[in-house]
Amino acid sequence: MTSRPNDTPAAPHGTARVNIARQRRFWDRNASSWDHHAGDSPGLVKVVERVVAEGAPAAGERVVDLGCGSGQLALRIAPVVASVVAVDVSPAMIGLLEQNARAAGIANVEGRAVPIEHLDLEAESVDLVVSNYVLHHLRDEDKAAAVRQAAGWLRPGGRLVVGDMMFGRGGDARDREIIASKVLLMLRKGPGGWWRIAKNAGRFLFRVQERPVSMDRWVEMFRSAGLVEVRAVPVVNEAAVVVGTKTTQARR
Ligand SMILES: C[S@@+](CC[C@H](N)C(=O)[O-])C[C@H]1O[C@@H](n2cnc3c(N)ncnc32)[C@H](O)[C@@H]1O
Repeated sequence: MTSRPNDTPAAPHGTARVNIARQRRFWDRNASSWDHHAGDSPGLVKVVERVVAEGAPAAGERVVDLGCGSGQLALRIAPVVASVVAVDVSPAMIGLLEQNARAAGIANVEGRAVPIEHLDLEAESVDLVVSNYVLHHLRDEDKAAAVRQAAGWLRPGGRLVVGDMMFGRGGDARDREIIASKVLLMLRKGPGGWWRIAKNAGRFLFRVQERPVSMDRWVEMFRSAGLVEVRAVPVVNEAAVVVGTKTTQARR
């Protein structure tokens, strides 16, 4: 018998096709609100900045942003690099990204309305792959596949940097602290907060919209994809960043 890590889903969570369609519907509906409010959250801004700092984008580099939204990372990075391919499942988000790029006079970002799961890029053609607050929406097997794909797109010495909510299902002290602090925050909001606890508990237990996994699981996925110098950095509350480098050594 094999044991199941404590942040492995307890409930079935649909096929990739069903999840992609659900994400597209949800984010098309919420694109404009995300675009307006993402910059208001000091926590989210900190994670974006940490992804940029850990990725250290440099002049001449080719970058891919997985789940770019309306450009929170892509447009931040574009001015210092050669090009950014910005990918999102939601056509509405890509529309906003393009609008924001035009408004900022940025011309080196190519938006692609395609799910990460279907993205096809040339092997070893990218210097830096980044992603922020996206991969917890993917099923666990699709998270691991996305990390493997990204490792394949990176040239030797290229970096993968993932920022996301990272916690498991109560298996360690950090998980329990995060879950307790979220519940407490919502309890303090009164009846509206109690409703959100019920809604989020359902989503969390059945892993419908959000499927976070722990920092340790992310580190494991990076290492299994052959990335080296893998590090996990807690940033704020439940958010953390994981960084890995494509080895420059030929693998035996
Ligand atoms: C929480 S928003 C984060 C947006 C942006 N990265 C940021 O830092 O503000 C999540 C984004 O992930 C995108 N997304 C969700 N599932 C996706 C998938 N399977 N493929 C591509 N994008 C996806 C959504 O459309 C949405 O734009």
